[in-house]
Amino acid sequence: MIGIFDSGLGGLSVLSAVASLLPQADLTYLADTAHVPYGDKDDAFIRRRVLRIGRHLVDQGCQVIVVACNTATAAAVAALRDALPGIPVVGVEPGIKPAAAATTSGRITVLTTTATARSERLSRLIRQHAGSVQVDVLPCPGWATKVETVHLDDPGFVESARRHLAPSLDSGADQIVLGCTHFTFLSPSLAPIVAGRAALVDVADAVARQCLRLAGASARGAGRLTLLATAHPERLQAALPALGLRWLTGKLAAPVRHTAV
Ligand code: DGL
Repeated sequence: MIGIFDSGLGGLSVLSAVASLLPQADLTYLADTAHVPYGDKDDAFIRRRVLRIGRHLVDQGCQVIVVACNTATAAAVAALRDALPGIPVVGVEPGIKPAAAATTSGRITVLTTTATARSERLSRLIRQHAGSVQVDVLPCPGWATKVETVHLDDPGFVESARRHLAPSLDSGADQIVLGCTHFTFLSPSLAPIVAGRAALVDVADAVARQCLRLAGASARGAGRLTLLATAHPERLQAALPALGLRWLTGKLAAPVRHTAV
């Protein structure tokens, strides 16, 4: 079984990519909805949650763990790998490398949570993969919460996102990296804003391919999905159709369950 988790709904974008690429894998997705958003929390708090959830998923029988959250990966993927020897741990990091390879203007913008923006891990990723490119990191506080409330096409949000992105687009950025898994669900609102000027860069499919490489026997199961939430399980259940993921309900053996972690 493969365990996938996020602070809330954002990691469903990764879950969907993994379930598409590994249709036979048994998957458990845990949304830490009692503590969303992570992006406003300090690193010590995020690390505690990541370690508890990772151990919980292993106790449930998961043999591979996917940290479907850029914020949690930045703060704690190294600690989780140390805590779970022998368990492959896949993290999610902003697609700086593909964006740096694709830019023709030499300027890219990375949209992140506040916590990811300040992380040493993101600075290192930029140094490693985008040495000759101008990279602007743009924190987007409140965007993950917008996804949690599933108000995806709120005209007020679209207008504020347009204003938020304008300086980057005006400066010539031609790659806009979605550096938070929640932001995938904002793509329908963001795409018209950047149209003709920049591409949106998402790594969900690349993460699924990495999962495929590491899954081994975990890729061969009955294709069952278990969904867990640390608060408001009914909201996670209702979010699936609202986020365009109705097809995943066909894999559910039981309704979304509350879990205390
Ligand atoms: N989905 C998460 C990420 O990829 C975090 C959003 C949040 O909880 O602030 O960064």
